[in-house]
Amino acid sequence: MRRNPMKNVLTAFAATLTLAAPAMAEGDAAKGEKEFKKCRACHSIVDDAGEAIVKGGKTGPNLYGVVGRVAGSEEFKYGGGLADAAAAEFVWTEEALAAYTMDAKKWLTDNGYSSQTKMTFKLKKGSEDVAAYLASVAE
Ligand code: HEC
Repeated sequence: MRRNPMKNVLTAFAATLTLAAPAMAEGDAAKGEKEFKKCRACHSIVDDAGEAIVKGGKTGPNLYGVVGRVAGSEEFKYGGGLADAAAAEFVWTEEALAAYTMDAKKWLTDNGYSSQTKMTFKLKKGSEDVAAYLASVAE
């Protein structure tokens, strides 16, 4: 009996999805909210009405609605790397944000932007969770 070629394709596709799953680990927003304590020293989350969702420092830009927002687009004097990203109209995704918070300089250079960064803080773990939390703090 001849094997159905379409079935082989589907089986291969399903196998690829299974293999790819761990790399696309979903962040946990509740855990991320706790993890955000590390970011508060420099970042606040203030909504468009001026209401503080998280009161924090002003060393870094407001992170309200940052996922889905153009990088480097807040009223803030950004470093060269994020200024490049803004010029390229790069829009933050959870994935990019997770990578950026682990190593801003590396993320900037990996994406072809200037390595100049004002964010020297590096999050060792839980970056997907923080990204999921930030994605949840928006309109
Ligand atoms: C020591 C201060 C400091 C800490 C702690 C810090 N940041 Fe930052 N962050 C900055 C500064 C300063 C910038 C602006 C970077 C630049 O202009 O190059 C920035 C930029 C950012 C941006 C880009 C925002 C935009 O408008 O494009 C994101 C996203 C971000 N930080 C997320 C985080 C997260 C999440 C944490 C916690 C895990 C964190 N930061 C912790 C200082 C900090």
